[in-house]
Amino acid sequence: MLAKQNSIRSSLRSTLLFAGLGIAFVGAGCASAQQQLERGEELYGFCAQCHGPEAHGIRDVDAPGLTNLDGWYLERQLEEFSAAMRGRPDRDVHESPMIFVARAYDDPEAVADLVAFIDSLPGYSPARTVMGNASAGRQLYSACDSCHGASAEGDVRLRAPALAGLDDWHLVAELREFTTGDRGTHQGDMYGQQMVPVSRVLTDEQAIFDIVAYINTLR
Ligand code: HEC
Ligand code: HEC
Repeated sequence: MLAKQNSIRSSLRSTLLFAGLGIAFVGAGCASAQQQLERGEELYGFCAQCHGPEAHGIRDVDAPGLTNLDGWYLERQLEEFSAAMRGRPDRDVHESPMIFVARAYDDPEAVADLVAFIDSLPGYSPARTVMGNASAGRQLYSACDSCHGASAEGDVRLRAPALAGLDDWHLVAELREFTTGDRGTHQGDMYGQQMVPVSRVLTDEQAIFDIVAYINTLR
């Protein structure tokens, strides 16, 4: 009986203790999440000049929207740019700025703050600008769905990003880079490297337009 009461009391105590800790953690979590967003917003001010104030992209400077990217992908891309695995190291800062940008922000905390802030911005529906034959693109897309998913929703386990909802002109630009070897050929780029052999199904510009026209139907 006594043993039972003691055990009830001690379990009650531990429940209260955990409840208290829970409140303390929730409190700390809120404060730091808020601070993280504020820091991220401040850092994003620099990115906004090219990616736009709401991160919906600015086509005139070839800078795609960022809010429809998965947070884990955004983070990985900043690492890739910083290591010059991606972003055309053969070009200067004006032609291809991201390597220089990512190096200036090469700090895990800054990247986490930026990603948290960009993630908190509302998504958007980019204009459809690419003309192509979507039914031909659908055939071609059978080479892609094993990694990017049938609805181009992406697969975090394979580190294959969602493609549906990205700017179509940006998809064209990236696919061109994979087919020419300007992206996905760096030794350390283990994810981009997977794109090079599959991009061979895109034998000409028309095939790129067709597959992107099909991806445009998947949002
Ligand atoms: C001077 C212009 C400029 C600035 C400033 C800039 N970017 Fe970019 N960004 C670009 C361009 C152009 C591209 C597309 C070229 C490419 O993919 O190499 C790009 C591509 C990206 C991509 C890849 C998107 C994808 O779908 O693959 C990410 C992520 C990114 N930028 C994040 C950022 C962040 C975060 C900042 C601020 C720290 C930033 N950029 C600042 C011009 C800029
Ligand atoms: C074997 C798995 C795999 C297959 C198949 C595959 N991809 Fe990918 N794809 C990836 C991975 C992984 C990445 C991320 C690369 C990185 O992190 O740099 C990627 C990146 C991309 C990107 C860059 C997106 C951006 O904004 O940076 C595009 C576009 C793309 N894939 C389109 C396609 C298309 C179209 C096909 C079919 C022709 C295809 N992929 C087939 C794994 C795959």
